[in-house]
Amino acid sequence: VSEMLIDSFGRLHTYLRISLTERCNLRCQYCMPAEGVELTPNSHLLSQNEILRLANLFVSSGVDKIRLTGGEPTVRKDIEDICLQLSNLKGLKTLAMTTNGIALARKLPKLKECGLNLVNISLDTLVPAKFEFMTRRRGHERVMESINAAVDLGYNPVKVNCVVMRGFNDDEISDFVELTREKPINVRFIEFMPFDGNVWNVKKLVPYYEMLDRVVKQFTGVQRIQDHPTETAKNFRIDGHQGTVSFITSMTEHFCAGCNRLRLLADGNFKVCLFGPSEVSLRDPLRLGVDDNVLKGIIGAAVKRKKASHAGMFDIAKTPNRPMIHIGG
Ligand code: GTP
Ligand code: 5AD
Ligand code: SF4
Repeated sequence: VSEMLIDSFGRLHTYLRISLTERCNLRCQYCMPAEGVELTPNSHLLSQNEILRLANLFVSSGVDKIRLTGGEPTVRKDIEDICLQLSNLKGLKTLAMTTNGIALARKLPKLKECGLNLVNISLDTLVPAKFEFMTRRRGHERVMESINAAVDLGYNPVKVNCVVMRGFNDDEISDFVELTREKPINVRFIEFMPFDGNVWNVKKLVPYYEMLDRVVKQFTGVQRIQDHPTETAKNFRIDGHQGTVSFITSMTEHFCAGCNRLRLLADGNFKVCLFGPSEVSLRDPLRLGVDDNVLKGIIGAAVKRKKASHAGMFDIAKTPNRPMIHIGG
């Protein structure tokens, strides 16, 4: 193993999120503006070979978990092949995907064979009409089918990501918790975060303590589970429930001190933090034909520039970033 990816605060980076595409089959309001976003021309996006070359570099520098994101990763035609190639990288322990679940039920058996061993499915409402409003598309039933398909295929837990927004779905918290009663589902309530074009407003943010309070009042035996230091979520079990409930508190109690995450975007930019405009292209030097050590030097230097934490929710909201659809979470 060559040099590990340690930043100037001593954080070791072992988790790479790769955005495979800027395209999506939904149009969620919290992720992109109504008019959509400008798509990077195809020739500027990383090819499968380029993704593999870079992923291999990261894995040889200590990354043992890769999560595929988008846009929506399943819209990429070569998704199965990408999974197969990545899962064969020596040193990779976990190949994960975050998906909207629209096309997953159909694709998951094959993806599982190709080595995908963790799936997180986004679902913000259990009411089909609200789903259509939020995503500007239909498909609620297909997402539910995908969640069930993942459970049936033995994924355990199946994580369901629910971005909570006041006045939209904060009345559904108990209904979501009910999903965890009979199935090994981990429902994760996520604080609404600001990104370019998503009309973030602090009034729409439902803070962690408020969400937890509602869960504790409606369910008995809610107990905190000890988290791994690099966890994004605060996890809880509930008496009698097979699944678990979690909160991702990026806004009110960030978890940057334990951050182990790096991001490779579909256009080949390398992003060391979800927030903040600092990005460096890996695609350009790669296409100029530089060797692995040069790329590792660029990656290592960018990691060293990573800040201790994000700037706080109000500063984040004022700082230019990208729309979420480009970053993939
Ligand atoms: P696991 O690997 O299953 O723990 O999932 P994850 O939480 O790393 O990834 P997922 O794509 O499911 O993201 C869930 C939520 O956590 C999304 O809202 C992400 O934007 C957010 N998230 C993921 N990584 C980070 C991070 O490094 N910082 C912050 N602030 N939020 C993150
Ligand atoms: N705030 C919080 N989470 C978000 N996600 C997308 N946009 C936002 C936002 N503005 C979630 C998606 C997906 C994950 C990658 O990030 O629902 O589950
Ligand atoms: Fe890591 Fe940045 Fe997320 Fe904090 S905001 S946990 S530093 S990626």
